[in-house]
Amino acid sequence: MAFDIDMIKKVYASMAERVDKAREIVGKPLTLSEKILYSHLWDGSPTEAFTRGKDYVDFAPDRIACQDATAQMALLQFMQAGKPNVAVPTTVHCDHLIQAKSGAALDLKSANSTSAEVFNFLESVSNKYGIGFWKPGAGIIHQVVLENYAFPGGMMIGTDSHTVNAGGLGMVAIGVGGADAVDVMAGMAWELKFPKLIGVKLTGNISGWTSAKDVILKVAGILTVKGGTGAIVEYFGEGAKNLSCTGKGTICNMGAEIGATTSTFGYDDSMERYLRATDRNDVADEANKVREYLTADDEVYANPEQYFDELIEINLDELKPHLNGPFTPDLATPVGQLGEKAKANGWPLKVDWGLIGSCTNSSYEDLTRAASIAKQAVDKKIKSKSDFGINPGSEQIRYTAERDGILEVFENLGATVFTNACGPCIGQWDRSDLKGEEKNTIVHSFNRNFSKRADGNPNTHAFVGSPEMVAAIAISGRLDFDPMNDTLLNEDGEEVKLDMPLGIELPPQGFAVEDAGYLAPDADGSGVEVKVSPDSERLQLLEPFTPIKDESLIGAKLLIKAFGKCTTDHISMAGPWLRFRGHLDNISNNCLIGAVNAFGKKTNFVKNQLTGEFAGVPDTARAYKAAGVRSVVVGDHNYGEGSSREHAAMEPRHLGVAAVIVKSFARIHETNLKKQGMLGLTFANEEDYDLVQEDDTFNFVDISEFAPDKQLTLELVHADGSKNVIKLNHTYNQPQIDWYREGSALNVIKKENAA
Ligand code: F3S
Repeated sequence: MAFDIDMIKKVYASMAERVDKAREIVGKPLTLSEKILYSHLWDGSPTEAFTRGKDYVDFAPDRIACQDATAQMALLQFMQAGKPNVAVPTTVHCDHLIQAKSGAALDLKSANSTSAEVFNFLESVSNKYGIGFWKPGAGIIHQVVLENYAFPGGMMIGTDSHTVNAGGLGMVAIGVGGADAVDVMAGMAWELKFPKLIGVKLTGNISGWTSAKDVILKVAGILTVKGGTGAIVEYFGEGAKNLSCTGKGTICNMGAEIGATTSTFGYDDSMERYLRATDRNDVADEANKVREYLTADDEVYANPEQYFDELIEINLDELKPHLNGPFTPDLATPVGQLGEKAKANGWPLKVDWGLIGSCTNSSYEDLTRAASIAKQAVDKKIKSKSDFGINPGSEQIRYTAERDGILEVFENLGATVFTNACGPCIGQWDRSDLKGEEKNTIVHSFNRNFSKRADGNPNTHAFVGSPEMVAAIAISGRLDFDPMNDTLLNEDGEEVKLDMPLGIELPPQGFAVEDAGYLAPDADGSGVEVKVSPDSERLQLLEPFTPIKDESLIGAKLLIKAFGKCTTDHISMAGPWLRFRGHLDNISNNCLIGAVNAFGKKTNFVKNQLTGEFAGVPDTARAYKAAGVRSVVVGDHNYGEGSSREHAAMEPRHLGVAAVIVKSFARIHETNLKKQGMLGLTFANEEDYDLVQEDDTFNFVDISEFAPDKQLTLELVHADGSKNVIKLNHTYNQPQIDWYREGSALNVIKKENAA
């Protein structure tokens, strides 16, 4: 489906030369991750060795994928760049905005009406700028990418944290914020700190009730939710080769749950089989020609302790099925030991729902393994004690599963088949069996199980497992059920046991689909009109930000002095605000409403110095803006940590904030502020944070001399007329100062384009 074989050939054509050069420069055998990284340098052939975990490096990704929630602002920004087409093959996937309620047909109809303007906007922008568009119902971004676009040895970025799923096909695929995606779409480099490397050696073989999902559930238990931060996890060993390609995808997918930059596997027969089964013989043929470059050098896997920063070994022969949770995906418990733990912690043992699917686990193999359990229940006259919901990962999977009678098996058990979309996995679930916030337990084959994630109820205890284990537990209706040892009572009062699951890796009759839901863009989209209603609540075309004038930085006012932790969630809350992701003015009404004001220690309650009255942060910022007064945000350590959400920088910029001055920044947020043409500065002397008072006026006295490696001077004028003159540090290089002077990075691109 519109994958670009010429682009893949081009990547492979330069791979040998670049990898050989990198090996020479680094001076030792290379891991697969290093081969992919060094063959995707923005400057082409490698000229220097990078230090893992330290050096920031510019890369040239091969592809970009965006989902409907994050694509809105990314594309609105891209439209500002003044480019006729995206510079790198890009796709948009409509999967997040579809609620699961009654079943696929009704739910899709309802989403198509509720979010019509967003879908129409994404479709028209895609058509105009050469972006492949996957309609609502076509499938979940990561499954569709794996089926159509992922290729061994490639590098992609995506505006969703589970972009990492494509590691199952041997890619380095990384989730990024919209601003990064826009840069690459506009033809700029993509910067990443050269990752550390964690090796996971898999020995033995998966069998019985244990599945690929249990590998990552186990790894999550070992590394915890932070253990993979800043690292690529590279899996290898005999056990890895014996996993299916989609099983590898599941493992890579949940690498996001350990905070890993991404995860990957070397090219092998399972990937070749998957490429051929998904109609990509040409990709497999090309990959076979450069096979040795699509996996690590032999010496690396022979002596991994010498080449990875950290090494984990898992014997798959001994690996037991796990259920992880509740409330965190790294709380790993082998099935069979969960009863005791649940009783000790007061987790409800009764299971109300079993949910199968999502981007993590909706392959043909997953569905057949789960169906083999569901079928036994029907055949052995066991009635399911829990409700069942299925979210197929793509229309191709759904169609094939329907043709092969797999969906019917679930339906015979009373399951509801939801749309091929995220649904409950992203909280898009209108769950009718709960009246309020009752304490309850669900099991699912998704990746995340944080509080409120699936149904918005903080008292839903969600446990993550393999699809077949979810099926077994849901049928039994009990969290302490161990299908390997326990029996169930059937309708005839007999004790019956479930046999171990049996799966089929790839459909014996091949995949099939009537309408995959893909719309190719016009060859020449210049005549396509992108329609956004001026009255829209959810979408708003962006106006370019105007440069902040030096004179406006004399007499700027304090908007808020944030106290303690101030993450991107405090700056731009999620939840119900997600609705306004494509409307900068409307979503700006959540700007900093979660931040605690250092004066009074309340949230969303700050002083308007022009009136002396107290009001919410967005209203106060708007009042300053209306009066032509620039405002300043002051913050503590690691300001802007959390996600790479660009709204956290765009909103204050839109509301007239000129500078954010903090003790320290989370780096991505600092870069986002720079991209939006604002000042992101740090106190040269951390204690100066304490000098800032509620009625302060800020004079940036030497802003006209803003230059790389040169401190700025700030005069703080207090209400009584007294002053403190302090120094501020910054990390702007000359191009970033140009962004500031032009109003934004996009303005610079636009200018360059017009020149
Ligand atoms: Fe993400 Fe779940 Fe969808 S992980 S892409 S929300 S299926």
